[in-house]
Amino acid sequence: MAKKSKPTFYITTPIYYVNDVPHIGHAYTTIIADALARFQKLAGKDVFFLTGTDEHGQKIEKAAAEKGLTPKALADAVVGRALNLWKALNICHDFFIRTTMDFHERGVQKLFQKLLDQGDIYKGEYKGWYCVSDENFLAEDVPCNKEGGKLCPDCGKKAVMVSEETYFFRLSAYQERLLEHYAAHPEFVQPPSRMNEVESFVRGGLKDLSITRTTVKWGVPVPGDPAHTIYVWFDALHNYVTGVGYDWNMPLFEKFWPATIHLVGKDILRFHAVYWPAFLMASGLALPRTVLGHGWWLKDDTKMSKSKGNVLDPHVLLKTFGPDPIRYFLLREIPIGQDGNFSHEGFLHRVNSDLANDLGNLVQRTLAMVRSYFGDGPLVPEPESEKDIRLRDEFEALKARVFALYDNCSLNRALEEIWAYIGSVNKYLAEEEPWILAKDDGRRQRLARVLAQAAAAIRGIGYLVFPVMPESAERIWEFLGEAKKPADVPFADLEFEILGPGRRTLEPRALFPRVALKDFLGGEGPVAQEPETTKEGAQPMDIISYEEFKRMDLRVARILTAERIPGATKLLKLEVDIGTEKRQMVAGVAETYAPEDLVGKRLVVICNLKPAVIRGVESQAMLLAAVTEDNKAIIPFFDRDVPAGAVVK
Ligand code: MSP
Repeated sequence: MAKKSKPTFYITTPIYYVNDVPHIGHAYTTIIADALARFQKLAGKDVFFLTGTDEHGQKIEKAAAEKGLTPKALADAVVGRALNLWKALNICHDFFIRTTMDFHERGVQKLFQKLLDQGDIYKGEYKGWYCVSDENFLAEDVPCNKEGGKLCPDCGKKAVMVSEETYFFRLSAYQERLLEHYAAHPEFVQPPSRMNEVESFVRGGLKDLSITRTTVKWGVPVPGDPAHTIYVWFDALHNYVTGVGYDWNMPLFEKFWPATIHLVGKDILRFHAVYWPAFLMASGLALPRTVLGHGWWLKDDTKMSKSKGNVLDPHVLLKTFGPDPIRYFLLREIPIGQDGNFSHEGFLHRVNSDLANDLGNLVQRTLAMVRSYFGDGPLVPEPESEKDIRLRDEFEALKARVFALYDNCSLNRALEEIWAYIGSVNKYLAEEEPWILAKDDGRRQRLARVLAQAAAAIRGIGYLVFPVMPESAERIWEFLGEAKKPADVPFADLEFEILGPGRRTLEPRALFPRVALKDFLGGEGPVAQEPETTKEGAQPMDIISYEEFKRMDLRVARILTAERIPGATKLLKLEVDIGTEKRQMVAGVAETYAPEDLVGKRLVVICNLKPAVIRGVESQAMLLAAVTEDNKAIIPFFDRDVPAGAVVK
């Protein structure tokens, strides 16, 4: 009898533009896809996970020209950085597609030609508002000004109405078929709220789509008509078929197509849920099962983007925390579909509380007790008590729920459930008090049972967090002396397994760093953006971002004591109350103020400046003062009562 083949699961991320290096927002999409791919492998599916880069088009042409590079050289550099980042974040993609790969370009041309031959693509005239400076057609929804003209939303210059020869895709012919597909397959667009948005757009009427440009040179040429370049979305969307073998590895393509999930940000849902299925219908290829639209990560309530200057570089967090805390935070904090506001406070809170305290401590404490009370020898536990059985049963129920939640892409809910169970295990240990049992030789068997039960729970927890935190999961299993890795055990075979004989546990080490907000922000800082340079390469005005400003801990301080520093005419030594503590500081104000004038005064100081030693005296804060032309310092004092420690912002 032929061997039954496994069910397949094919997941994709959008392919990222190469005019910019990936930031936390891009990392989010890729991490979701990675966690889902890892879970589906555990669930027994044959998984293919595709990610890559979108390298053609005007944006890239322009970004490369600004840097004095060819578009391909820019793409190569950015791809190198993207691959490094995905490696550092433990992304396990099966293939990385670049739209400049020759088999992709050939595949796009082949499909273009097919649609042209059958009349789904035709040559016509595109009329639209064009920005000469940006060499770009304006989107149709850019409103007219009072004079009936339009301004380019990017550069603000007047656009002109031009017409150019172009190839159109006959999108209008697919309106009814698309609506029928949505009705027959409600899971096609997820979450369901996004489906309404897509349906109403299609009901509003579809116009034929211009899919080529003569003004753009960097791209795939129209077969037989190279003055025309295939417009990026027709080119880019087809990565999902060429990346899995279309036209160059047909057995692979036939195995995995159609995709199970196209994971996309909500900004590009329309391209994936309207244009892409229409292209596929025209080509006669099957449609993907689901387009899953996730929300955005915002910083200070606006979408992270390079142009807004509010991007977060994942490398800054990676350096201190490694991949798992980032993966955990992004997936735990918001359900797929909703937006989230990234804050360092929120991030550190999750790392310290959920990871270092709840999970990290549990693992370390339990294993330290196993090793200290039983050495390397196996635990031979007494039979289970009711409470022990409850912990095991709770795990069995958890396992089923977590499976269903992961399968349904509810990653944050799955993590919530796992953490509720971590709470139960911590409670079990607090109630059973193994450290007290250890003092009584007559209760050694009970001690063995309690620790065995907790270790079995930890093993299970390690497994369940694997899709989200693969590195930590593996480490937990190593500490437990497991010969296998979580990835080797199918979900269906996961059991609440008691440490058997011959098991050698390892000395457990801290799984997660515990970092104070002040230390983190005072150290690396949250923003690691490259300084913008002007076209000529000169540094622009020294503008700091709001983020940088926010890093300063400015507070009201009350001066407690003031005295001269022997031998220094300009300096006073002050002792100030900053609300939470007393600080000593050295201030260059002795020429303007006598020490006795200052005692009791309230002023603004920076509290998180690196301490400095001045004239042998350590200065642990700095005051703010105006400096006059003759170099005298004038301190702004508060004109009414404010408590010491009040935040100044
Ligand atoms: N190249 C196109 C996609 C073509 S797919 C056939 C593109 N690239 S992109 O680099 O601009 O963005 C790709 C994706 O990155 C977005 O759709 C979204 O998935 C993700 N994100 C970019 N910024 C984001 C946030 N701030 N937050 C969450 N995801 C974000 O569009």
